Amino acid sequence: MKFFVDTADVDAIRELNDLGMVDGVTTNPSLILKAGRNIEEVTREICEMVSGPVSAEVVADKAEDMIREGRHLAQIAPNIAIKVPLTWDGLKACRTFADEGHMVNVTLCFTAAQAILAAKAGATFISPFVGRLDDIGLDGVDLIADIREIYDNYGYETQILAASIRSVNHIVEVGKIGADVITAPPSVIKSMAKHVLTDKGLEQFTADWAKTGQKIGG
Ligand code: E4P
Repeated sequence: MKFFVDTADVDAIRELNDLGMVDGVTTNPSLILKAGRNIEEVTREICEMVSGPVSAEVVADKAEDMIREGRHLAQIAPNIAIKVPLTWDGLKACRTFADEGHMVNVTLCFTAAQAILAAKAGATFISPFVGRLDDIGLDGVDLIADIREIYDNYGYETQILAASIRSVNHIVEVGKIGADVITAPPSVIKSMAKHVLTDKGLEQFTADWAKTGQKIGG
């Protein structure tokens, strides 16, 4: 399973990247706002640090404007994946970018039907939003399973990038299904290390070790 980090926070990316845990990065307009950075400046900085795909999102709604924006973003670095929304215009832009040899991440996917169209339009990645489906009482993990089954039926090469990941459980469940990539906030990735029994066991070992009066290497 590949790990993309869903943030424009350079320090948070660096911490995970130093551990070799970052296969790529995804950003979106909301994450750029949160980071309070200029999109081109922060994207360049991320691309210099991370060798895998770094998604940068267009904001126009017409295909021709998306194409202009995407080509501009793609000049930032060779590892840019141009992120386009799953609209008809977004699919047109996706086809153009794919034909030009750019990586494309089609985002805001909420149905398997949308995911089929993205694959047909040459997307490198499809981003189904797991958490946002859960938010409205649907099951985001089921969508990943449906897309996996359909893509496997036809040998589509578009990678399933499970997005809007909100919990450790989401990561485990989409991993069992076979999502190619997950993108998650740094806090969720770091919380994968946590377990109450790990904390409890460590507390016990620390207390018992103190009673031995020993020191390692001392
Ligand atoms: C995906 O590329 C998006 O940036 C992201 O996963 C959205 O997550 P959210 O629903 O938690 O905002």
